[in-house]
Amino acid sequence: MTTMGAVPEAEFVVVANRLPVDKEVLPDGEVRWKTSPGGLVAALEPILRSHAGAWVGWSGVPDSDEDPEVEGLDLVSVPLSSSEIADYYEGFSNGTLWPLYHDVIAKPEYDREWWNAYVAVNEKFAEATAHVAAEGALVWVQDYQLQLVPRMLREMRPDLKIGFFLHIPFPPVELFMQLPWRAEIVDGLLGADLIGFHLPDGAENFLYLANRLGGHNASRRSVGVRSKFGSVDLHDRVVTVGAFPISIASGEIDAAAKSKAIRKRAREIRKELGNPKTILLGADRLDYTKGIDVRLKALAELLEENRLDPAETVLVQLATPSRERVDSYVAMRSEIEQLVGHINGAYAQVGRPVVEYLNRPMPRDELVSFFVAADVMLVTPLRDGMNLVAKEYVACRSDLGGALVLSEFTGAAAELTAAYQANPYDMEGVKNAIEAAVNQSRDEGRARMRALRRQVLTHDVEKWAKSFLDTLRNTGKK
Ligand code: ADP
Ligand code: G6P
Repeated sequence: MTTMGAVPEAEFVVVANRLPVDKEVLPDGEVRWKTSPGGLVAALEPILRSHAGAWVGWSGVPDSDEDPEVEGLDLVSVPLSSSEIADYYEGFSNGTLWPLYHDVIAKPEYDREWWNAYVAVNEKFAEATAHVAAEGALVWVQDYQLQLVPRMLREMRPDLKIGFFLHIPFPPVELFMQLPWRAEIVDGLLGADLIGFHLPDGAENFLYLANRLGGHNASRRSVGVRSKFGSVDLHDRVVTVGAFPISIASGEIDAAAKSKAIRKRAREIRKELGNPKTILLGADRLDYTKGIDVRLKALAELLEENRLDPAETVLVQLATPSRERVDSYVAMRSEIEQLVGHINGAYAQVGRPVVEYLNRPMPRDELVSFFVAADVMLVTPLRDGMNLVAKEYVACRSDLGGALVLSEFTGAAAELTAAYQANPYDMEGVKNAIEAAVNQSRDEGRARMRALRRQVLTHDVEKWAKSFLDTLRNTGKK
């Protein structure tokens, strides 16, 4: 049993598949809590610290009912068994929904057992939330793993204000219609008072589906990149639908990157890499949506065509392990490791690899030091809801140095228009963007970085959360 009874009733509750910390059991049995991977946790952790409340989620290991102790956070653990992890998390969430919502880059599997587990686990999360939420509390449900929770929770606790935010893209209607349980998912989401997406396109797709599948009256009230809102009329209540592009704690990252210690470490990194003229950097979860293969193939061709000099260039690819028991992730990892081996085999000197590949999570300060050291940041996803790495890199460059190569198919591309943007399916376009970024003049680089920073520093995660929560509080008011 979870010890959630120990948590006082909360006026504000975040519900996410993962808790912000991940339990690690070392071989000698010692337990350590480390920061969970991914952008959802990176964005929401500072929000929960600044708005007192509880966070309901899973600790990342089977059958753990321990509520982790983290100063400043009330964490309520939802235990999941090994079979729930296999069917709900690895199965339906990451073998069905993740690839379906990311343009079917990998083939989604539709398995009835996985679906049953998804329903059962969503019910568990709804129950745990109903248990900790105070009368009339504000509840904020997160992401694709928990799309049935809004409806389930409303049935258990009609007094609550329920918001839902999707951290990944919401797919085009033609793709979503593949899902055998499409009507149930739309109905689950419509249990919320407010449903948020990163971009207006996702909100549009959802409004169209709600109309088509639910026979409801879905309408668009206004148009505009940031202010696009629509609504779904359910007769007894109205659900608001809107676009809220997520961001980062820009000010904090900017300050960290300016510190002496980080600047010193950034210089050391360049030295450790053999003082190359150009450091290219990638930093991602090891996920097939991130286009790590795209940037490696582009690098290989640029080296082969003598457009980059292997003696002057290093690509550092930091890749946090992710979802390691899901088949498509296993296959992608070996493809990437082969590409790294191929490039180093062809172009490295002894003791001087061209690609430095680190398949483990980086401590935060070390990651920031890499951002400060990198001349060109490569963000090349085939599809990404937002991509916080792109924004973090920009926040780290108060020196106006560096350049960002950014896929058009990230949510961030809508805001970061001064980046070197490319279509990740167009290899020549990606190569041209990398080459232009490597060879940019100092003035060009500074002008672009200044424009990027203006956007990132004025639109931080606190502003994002405030905009969502203010809209949620005002739902239902005439
Ligand atoms: P996603 O949520 O799909 O993982 P994002 O780019 O939105 O992608 O967020 C990734 C988060 O994980 C960022 O906060 C980034 O700093 C962090 N991150 C990425 N790569 C690493 C790494 N190798 N080590 C540690 N943290 C990483
Ligand atoms: C993305 C998803 C999050 C998820 C994170 C890490 O950011 O939107 O919901 O938590 O990736 O993935 P994981 O499967 O390790 O939780």
